[in-house]
Amino acid sequence: MIDEFVLGDSVNVIKSIPDDYVHAIISDIPYGIGYEDWDVLHNNANSALGGASAAQIEMGGLFKRRGKPLNGWSAADKLISLEYQNWCGLWASDWLRVLKPGGSCFVFAGRRYSHRCVVALEDGGFTLKDVLAWEKSSAPHRAQRISEIYKRRGDNRNSLKWKGWRVANLRPLFEPILWFQKPYRIGGTIADNMLEYGVGAWNEQALETYNLNDESTYSNVLKVKADKNDRGLHSTQKPLKLMECLISLVTKKGQIVLDPFAGSGTTCVAAKCLDRRYIGIEIDEKIFNIAKKRLSDLVKQSSFREFVATV
Ligand SMILES: C[S@@+](CC[C@H](N)C(=O)[O-])C[C@H]1O[C@@H](n2cnc3c(N)ncnc32)[C@H](O)[C@@H]1O
Repeated sequence: MIDEFVLGDSVNVIKSIPDDYVHAIISDIPYGIGYEDWDVLHNNANSALGGASAAQIEMGGLFKRRGKPLNGWSAADKLISLEYQNWCGLWASDWLRVLKPGGSCFVFAGRRYSHRCVVALEDGGFTLKDVLAWEKSSAPHRAQRISEIYKRRGDNRNSLKWKGWRVANLRPLFEPILWFQKPYRIGGTIADNMLEYGVGAWNEQALETYNLNDESTYSNVLKVKADKNDRGLHSTQKPLKLMECLISLVTKKGQIVLDPFAGSGTTCVAAKCLDRRYIGIEIDEKIFNIAKKRLSDLVKQSSFREFVATV
């Protein structure tokens, strides 16, 4: 199973991958916070995702577009993060099984529930090595002024008193990338592991090539060059150069990269561009077809480049 992009549920498909087979797992997994079908990973009909609070209903649907804010009022709401952890637990031990000893696993998980993913993968046998930050150049931001809320209520005294105060979050300019490692064999060293499995250390050249932040100190804050092609194929599409950076940080040419939640195939495209082999799995047929086309267009482009180079 190499250079394959598979349509299916990765929780099952991964069972057909042999033990100690892939050199790295790099995946932008569902975050458990969105409205899209693939991101709803709980059974809570009264949830922050879809429900409305009594106050919102009274206000006649003003908040309809945004859903109910996270407030922890209901027991069902509180369960969402545990349900997310349990969902991560469904696949964590298979991820460990298919990865070579010492191999790295990079997971993009949303800020809100990434701690639950950490617990599930630790319970599955991984070691959390680090949390990298992907620094974006921009991020949409809405943080309502609380003074405006008081003003609309006709409460001018509090509107003045709380001038400059806002609700909601700061601008989300970084995304965490969880860096896990499969423990290397008991009794060996990381240097022995590199010789036996070809993984375990990281390559400084990857940061020198891709990280625009601070090349000299090998910062764990990653800032890469993104371009217009990094948008439009998937709602959570990642920049190609970011995936290239992560792939070249922990693998060499010819090694195998697995992405079990592959979306529009960015990890696999990056692997192919860097002469790595890949396995991608995507459950949604429409998105799967986008990724398949992306990968086959890439093959056509590279054979055209090879052809041009020979004439
Ligand atoms: C966060 S998105 C990945 C987007 C990707 N980074 C890109 O650049 O296109 C996660 C993807 O996982 C897919 N997915 C969700 N559950 C899945 C499952 N059980 N098996 C395989 N894919 C799944 C979703 O359809 C979605 O496309």
